[in-house]
Amino acid sequence: MVESCTFVVFGATGNLSRNKLLPAFYHLESAQRLPDKMAIVGVALQEWNTEYWRQQVAQDIQLKARGDLNREILARLLQRLHYFQGDFTVVETHQHLKAYLEKESQIFPSNIVFYMSIRPADFGVVANNLGAIGLNLERDGWRRLVVEKPFGYDLVSAEMLEVQLHRYFRERQIFRIDHYLGKEMIQNVLVFRFANVLFEPLWNRNYIDHIQITHAETAGIEGRAGFYEGTGALRDMIQSHLLQMLTLVAMEPPPNMDPESLRDEKVKVLKSIRPISVSTVRSYAFRAQYVSGSIGSNKVVGYLNEEGVASNSTTETYAALKLYIDNWRWRHIPFYLRTGKRMATTASHISIRFKEVPQQLFRRTPIHRLEPNWLLLGVQPNECLRIELQTKEVGLEMRTHTTGLDAASCGQEEAKLDAYEILLLDVIKGDNSLFLRDDEVRWAWQVIDPILRAWATEREFIPSYNAGSWGPSETGRLFDCDDQHWRNTL
Ligand code: BG6
Repeated sequence: MVESCTFVVFGATGNLSRNKLLPAFYHLESAQRLPDKMAIVGVALQEWNTEYWRQQVAQDIQLKARGDLNREILARLLQRLHYFQGDFTVVETHQHLKAYLEKESQIFPSNIVFYMSIRPADFGVVANNLGAIGLNLERDGWRRLVVEKPFGYDLVSAEMLEVQLHRYFRERQIFRIDHYLGKEMIQNVLVFRFANVLFEPLWNRNYIDHIQITHAETAGIEGRAGFYEGTGALRDMIQSHLLQMLTLVAMEPPPNMDPESLRDEKVKVLKSIRPISVSTVRSYAFRAQYVSGSIGSNKVVGYLNEEGVASNSTTETYAALKLYIDNWRWRHIPFYLRTGKRMATTASHISIRFKEVPQQLFRRTPIHRLEPNWLLLGVQPNECLRIELQTKEVGLEMRTHTTGLDAASCGQEEAKLDAYEILLLDVIKGDNSLFLRDDEVRWAWQVIDPILRAWATEREFIPSYNAGSWGPSETGRLFDCDDQHWRNTL
């Protein structure tokens, strides 16, 4: 049974809360998954009151919710909302908040989630404030702290953040969100690999030629220059989401599905990634920035012309990486990762290319060259699982063509659940399997830290690509062989 709790959202009037969290709560309400007495307390600086906040949330949900709005469900959700005005960077606010929650204890259940929907620079401050007045202590119910990426800026700052979080909170109380882990297809990777006998025997360096993980989006930085200028594609996407996808594709089967067993296996993958030294970064990583171009029929400006971007900025909006995992299963098999803003399309997929058959049996027939098999996992917008096989063309001659075998989930529909719905429910249930452990975050930074350091010294020039394209062609230099190339579609 899911226990009731008070869900405190710091930064309740900000983008994340308005666009993701509250709409996710609406859908959970609709699915009757929220505990009966759960209350949601929004904390923010604005001089709003509960009534006004509820109106704002109602408007946001009308815009963001999937399908037709159900007013009864919305009303039920709004009843749970309470606004608390205050500056969460000062300890007095937390004292008042504590007194408020205690005074109204018939409204606010004693288990508490603290969700940091705030600037990363304030994570440590708020965790400290909570701890300083004992809101971390679990005397009369549990306490959970939820933080969103970015967890630090590089290895050193990530370690410093961990020290701050751990000052008052224990690891099992901390839920670090990487929303990719809440995506249906990402969870499906484990089921696909470990609930079927067919693929695991092939899932290794003997049969797999290479693996690609792609995240592309047509969107630009959407007015977030302040955040993006100091971040860039490598930190924003690869350090977190893409490396997480890689761990699930590459990990060994855990002994069971408990959170620690699962996370132990993911950490082993990260630890086994061959370190890239600062001097060899050029052979393993490539970055670029978009210039103006067209997305569909819309002309869009280049990165340097986005509002708030410095005219000489070398922040990368595209990053590609080659990694090797030096373990028994994957030695010498390249994993190619890439991500970009203002790309030709919005899509995330994992593409696995198998090796060629050992014998060219059909050499003397009209089949000159056999295409390799691919296994394709579409993460979004369409969840899809497809295997490409060679089959004979109907007719008198021996010719082949590529046939796609689609798993039943391959619809043309977009994902039905938002990752936040799954993750918020897991926080309330106390299941941290889909959240990052401190060592996972640290090892992920270890992987990319040398690249960040090398790029930090190259401030004069950055290659470019046209908005609306698939990125710069020079990125092909990362491939180990001539017959490897980016796979852009499923
Ligand atoms: C976020 C990044 O973590 O993920 C954004 O900060 C990016 O820059 C987003 O656009 C992509 O997430 P999704 O779920 O839309 O693929």
